[in-house]
Amino acid sequence: MSYPSKHLLAIEGLEPPHIADLLDLAESYALLNRSGKTQRDLLKGRTLINLFFEDSTRTRTSFELAGKRLGADVINMSVSTSSVNKGETLLDTASTLNAMQCDLLVIRHAQSGAPALLSQKVDAAVINAGDGTHEHPTQALLDALTIRRHKGSLQGLVVAICGDIAHSRVARSNIHLLTTMGSRVRVVGPPTLIPADAARLGVEVFHDMKAGLKDADVVMMLRLQRERMSGGLVPSAREFFRFYGLDAEKLALAKPDSIVMHPGPMNRGVEIDSAIADHPTRSVIGEQVEMGVACRMAVLDVLARRLPRNR
Ligand code: CP
Repeated sequence: MSYPSKHLLAIEGLEPPHIADLLDLAESYALLNRSGKTQRDLLKGRTLINLFFEDSTRTRTSFELAGKRLGADVINMSVSTSSVNKGETLLDTASTLNAMQCDLLVIRHAQSGAPALLSQKVDAAVINAGDGTHEHPTQALLDALTIRRHKGSLQGLVVAICGDIAHSRVARSNIHLLTTMGSRVRVVGPPTLIPADAARLGVEVFHDMKAGLKDADVVMMLRLQRERMSGGLVPSAREFFRFYGLDAEKLALAKPDSIVMHPGPMNRGVEIDSAIADHPTRSVIGEQVEMGVACRMAVLDVLARRLPRNR
């Protein structure tokens, strides 16, 4: 396994063999999970703490499941009932968990860079489960694994990432991963929701959704992250759907065998029509969630192997 670091803080900086090795290992865990078998020895005696300062359904649950399937002791720390509410800082919270000999610390935080800061202060391996608008690396891994299972390879694919690019750590991690692996990435959305320096990331920018979807292999829809917006960057949800919501008419412009993705949580009728989200052959949204467990098992596996045995 070529993975180069003690932590997983970002996709940016990883090279094709690092990503390919992680995806290959995740694929083996996907098959193991489907067989109903577990591998409870690998993380036996290890402690994994989920430290989520922002809401989550998929990421937190799948890290918990992944840790348990590999035999770790998993603690979900409830930030809303923790001493953070009494004014304890992020770093003091982390030092406290570190003193409990935690091996793997999974953190989601509203501030970009919070996981990187923690990684300098604790002995545990730190995994970024989403930091501000920066990155969400395990989401990009699970998206890539899902695409690879349907398309065979990431090389040469046209991937259209649509919607609120500006506030999306999912978009950022996917752009880094997909361009590193040889996909052609388009970002599609209104000018207010596309970062001014998007082209610097090696993507093509489209403000017309129909042009952006033309002949795409993969259509990835994103949620409007109103909680990160200051001011009215979009008109009404109804008007947004008219121009940028994925419906059958717009999807017809992509390749006939294109797949539709969404990291969740979805806002049906805002960025995606229910008939497309639930489409039996085109939508792979459920499979993304399944691959999330496999990818997180692969990440925990790789990072745990690099930890000293007696901590
Ligand atoms: N995709 C994703 O991060 O979902 P959650 O917010 O539910 O974890």
